[in-house]
Amino acid sequence: MLDALPDQVSIYEVSPRDGLQNEALPVPLEGKKDLLSALIRAGLTRIELTSFVSPRWVPQLADAEELAREFQAPPGVTFSALCPNAKGFERAHAAGLHEIAVFMSASETHNKKNTNKTIAESLDTFREVVPPALAVQMRVRAYVSTVWGCPYEGDVDPAASLAITRELLGLGCYQVSLGDTIGVGTPLVTKRLVSLFLAEVPASQLALHFHDTRGTALVNALVGLELGIRDFDSSVAGLGGCPYAPGAAGNLATEDLVYMLHGMGVKTGIDLDLLIEAGRVAETVVGRRLPGKVHQAGPRTVRG
Ligand code: HMG
Ligand code: MG
Repeated sequence: MLDALPDQVSIYEVSPRDGLQNEALPVPLEGKKDLLSALIRAGLTRIELTSFVSPRWVPQLADAEELAREFQAPPGVTFSALCPNAKGFERAHAAGLHEIAVFMSASETHNKKNTNKTIAESLDTFREVVPPALAVQMRVRAYVSTVWGCPYEGDVDPAASLAITRELLGLGCYQVSLGDTIGVGTPLVTKRLVSLFLAEVPASQLALHFHDTRGTALVNALVGLELGIRDFDSSVAGLGGCPYAPGAAGNLATEDLVYMLHGMGVKTGIDLDLLIEAGRVAETVVGRRLPGKVHQAGPRTVRG
């Protein structure tokens, strides 16, 4: 254990999307821009900006076009956005994004509740989205949700998640992020699941996306790291949750992940003190206390 650590890990920040999509109170555009500025100041270079989903389904992100227009990615930073169908792709393309993320679940019930589609229909939809996106030089990432468990169906067959992953990579998605949408994963299950994927898929084409509902996100990330995963999704201060997954609490907090990685000598390119400041901005923006541990503890040493 802990003898195969990499020099560097890539963090994909999801707070402006996964974080804000579930907020009960509307978050003004200015607040979203403040959050983005703070994240970029801290050194995050891969950020999920928003979603081009139906504004009726996710009203918090109805300002996607406006945000993309008013806040463009500075050099060295890539913005991505969630995209459920051809309309989402067209909107993202028109808004000038160079990356999108398609998403679906490994369990039928969650996929239906989240996107009003069967798994087969989602795959058909992405067959109409990914090639046109690649044709206009967009990069396409993909999520497979409920890999560790579904809020409606319970355990999910890992073979189903693997089959979907195969299809999405076959379509040309550069990476599939495996989601523990409701945060039920425990380390041994994570070891078995991730090992199953790695037997077939190169680590560079996989990312892990943990929600910290039961406090196991960080240890699951560590298991993934040990197995060779180098891409992790997280959200500043632990903001987040899926509106169509009851019990989906915030994502793994970016500060907690960065603290652990830096403590083991693994580089992230992120300044932890500035990240902690970004977490404070996030808290101001949503107007409530956020759960991240390092966020709550603050810097180890007070700058004097
Ligand atoms: P639908 O109602 O079946 O859509 O929703 P439809 O195709 O029948 O169209 C109905 C209306 O919606 C039409 O408008 C369309 O134009 C419009 P009308 O003619 O009635 O005026 N519409 C759109 N408008 C804007 N942008 C679009 C779009 N598409 C259709 N892209 C749909 C189907 C997929 C659109 C809907 O279910 C949806 O938007 N779902 C998104 C739900 C969501 O965002 N969930 C949270 C993200 S997933 C997540 O959090 C998990 C993740 O973090 C990983 C993990 O944790 O595991 C990624
Ligand atoms: Mg999520």
